[in-house]
Amino acid sequence: MKSLSAFLALLAPVQAGLRFPCSTLTFQRLDPVVQPGSLPASHVHHIVGGNAFNATMEGDVGERASCTTCQMSEDFSNYWTATLYFKHPTNGSYQRVPVVPVQPLLGNSNGAQGGITVYYTQFDLSKDNLNKQAVKTFPPGFRMTVGSPAASSRPHVGLTYQCLSGNSRGAEMSDFPTKPCTGGIYTTHHFPACWDGVNTDSPDHQSHMFNTINSNGFTNAPACPASHPVRVPQVTYETTWDTTKFNSMWKSGAPNPYVWSFEGTGGYGTHADYMFGWKGDSLQRAMNKSECFYDGCGSITKQAMATANQCTVKDMVGEVTTGWLKSLPGTM
Ligand SMILES: *[C@@H]1O[C@H](CO)[C@@H](O)[C@H](O)[C@H]1NC(C)=O
Ligand SMILES: *[C@@H]1O[C@H](CO)[C@@H](O)[C@H](O)[C@H]1NC(C)=O
Ligand SMILES: *[C@@H]1O[C@H](CO)[C@@H](O)[C@H](O)[C@H]1NC(C)=O
Repeated sequence: MKSLSAFLALLAPVQAGLRFPCSTLTFQRLDPVVQPGSLPASHVHHIVGGNAFNATMEGDVGERASCTTCQMSEDFSNYWTATLYFKHPTNGSYQRVPVVPVQPLLGNSNGAQGGITVYYTQFDLSKDNLNKQAVKTFPPGFRMTVGSPAASSRPHVGLTYQCLSGNSRGAEMSDFPTKPCTGGIYTTHHFPACWDGVNTDSPDHQSHMFNTINSNGFTNAPACPASHPVRVPQVTYETTWDTTKFNSMWKSGAPNPYVWSFEGTGGYGTHADYMFGWKGDSLQRAMNKSECFYDGCGSITKQAMATANQCTVKDMVGEVTTGWLKSLPGTM
């Protein structure tokens, strides 16, 4: 029996949690969490998810959106990070770094265009442990951020950079790579797993959450404190920035030429924003289910990425964010 179960574990690991691609929705200078109503906001974001995305977002997003760039068709949430730019080492011009799907590394892009791979895990990647730890999902209107563009020290655990080459992702680092990466730069953002259970937001967009995560990777977060007792799904974003066309302009020994869209030259300011928008109780149904596999879960529905790719939002800011730019959008 023992050897049979070991064999089955190898053959079909129970991969607890959702993992799915969301194609790029837009690159715009908008931030309905940190700068609601600002049109434009201070820096360019790379945004995926539902088409209710707007300069201001209130109430039940899942009821207002009509399409999503995510594979899970009931997920109208929006997920975004700052955008990576290459800063030309001699003339100082900027060019936005393209985004490619994360999955080719893992053997399947599902047809995503650019985008972010999103995870909602219940425990870790090999079990759900729902008997010990109930996971409660977010209410309509919920939002949070992790990391900060104003950070002046190395990002905390869970916010990482990796230098891709071949099939290797390389070590998880807390700063930009120091040499060209033939396969691009891979960024990961793990959000906190403990919520105060009351507030859908807080003035700094973080203090309604509590970060107990003490190691990188998909490990179960330690127990939640009394102040933030509610265990929520562990949300993670993965993004692959395709730096290959810039590699030849990064001369050997020269410093890192990549900057975040807020002119963040150190790796310090890496950050991500989350706007909950699952329709009805769909995310809770998924999280209640044991053996909620990587890309499918019980009754929640998926769509073809060819359909997801047709979901768009208007260009609300109307500025050029790509090609060679003399300055980063918003910094003049
Ligand atoms: C975005 O907000 C503006 C101003 O409130 C509104 O007119 C517009 O319909 C909104 N767009 C979407 C897609 O919700
Ligand atoms: C900087 O160099 C790039 C690549 O050679 C070039 O395309 C761009 O026009 C240059 N920018 C300026 C301001 O000269
Ligand atoms: C999820 O599980 C909890 C705890 O067992 C239960 O109270 C809740 O009704 C379930 N929700 C859904 C949508 O299945």
